[in-house]
Amino acid sequence: MDRWMMPSMNTALDPFPNGWYVLAESKDLAANTHMARTWMGREVIMWRDQDGDVLVADAFCPHLGAHLGPEAGGLLKDNKLVCPFHGFEYAHSGQCVKVAQGAVPGAIKLHTYPAHEINGLICAYYDRTGKAPEWSVPEVPESDFTHRAFVKRRIRAHPQMTSENSVDWSHLLYLHGYDNLEQRADTEIDGPFLNAYYAFNRSMLTPVLNRFRFRFRFEVDISVWGLGISIVNVHAPEIGLKARQWVFATPSDGEYMDYWMGAHVFSAPRLGGLHWLPQGFILPRLSKLFAQELSTEVSFDEKVWSRMAFQPNPRLCQTDRDIFRYRRYCEQFYPDNESCQPSA
Ligand code: FES
Ligand SMILES: [Fe+2]
Repeated sequence: MDRWMMPSMNTALDPFPNGWYVLAESKDLAANTHMARTWMGREVIMWRDQDGDVLVADAFCPHLGAHLGPEAGGLLKDNKLVCPFHGFEYAHSGQCVKVAQGAVPGAIKLHTYPAHEINGLICAYYDRTGKAPEWSVPEVPESDFTHRAFVKRRIRAHPQMTSENSVDWSHLLYLHGYDNLEQRADTEIDGPFLNAYYAFNRSMLTPVLNRFRFRFRFEVDISVWGLGISIVNVHAPEIGLKARQWVFATPSDGEYMDYWMGAHVFSAPRLGGLHWLPQGFILPRLSKLFAQELSTEVSFDEKVWSRMAFQPNPRLCQTDRDIFRYRRYCEQFYPDNESCQPSA
């Protein structure tokens, strides 16, 4: 499917906006291993060589097209990737260094994508025309991600539509049932980076977190880094909770995407004595619970996303000023396409 389209839609949204997308957590790709993924409508491999560097490349051998992933028989030998069909060997640069017989034609090279390992994640950059990235994924201050937890789902949605939630504050009231919502500062847009600031009251959905049945005030700072990666800094001052949520929308086949919902709790809430427990014990468990909480919350959105039709000319109302600005922000990720923008 070349363009993301609902059966009832009379318009379409390019399913693969330019930008950085998360392929894996760094810890899931050991040195001297490789794995295959469907990413941005193509098959790719990720390969960490014996020095620890990561390569992301098209999975099909430039010779006759064998798949180079481990399931197809592609293997790593002496820091080379060996095709299972005729044994061509590729260096970590992607360059073919050995063919069946004779000299290696210089043109035999894997098609590679810019890859960047940051914040404990393997990210790759997609550009429809193959241009190099002009921005990179920012680094967060913490360096230890061992207790960050993710829930991953394959969902039928488009990353522009899911990220739009970051500025769609009226859905926080109606769909998610928050109240006393306040926009703490104007939404900021700086190139591919968008920041939104809210405060609201909400209770927890996960039974074990909601056993106190309290409704607390949360302050959130949302950072959107292109359409594939968002983080949300969460602070609930009354109870001392501090956490960071991670949300990744990685298109796979043009209709579905891999959607990651993560949480990393830094400071346990002062509830039921939780904060008295050893941090090393409680923070990983709370991170898992908060990732589950985020996933439960997103299941409400998912029910809508998976059936909605993209409106290129939405009829906006007074509360939707930031949606208009968001749609303008999105234009940069489709530089060569007509798209997606509301009329004023
Ligand atoms: S298809 Fe890969 S070496 Fe022939
Ligand atoms: Fe939402």
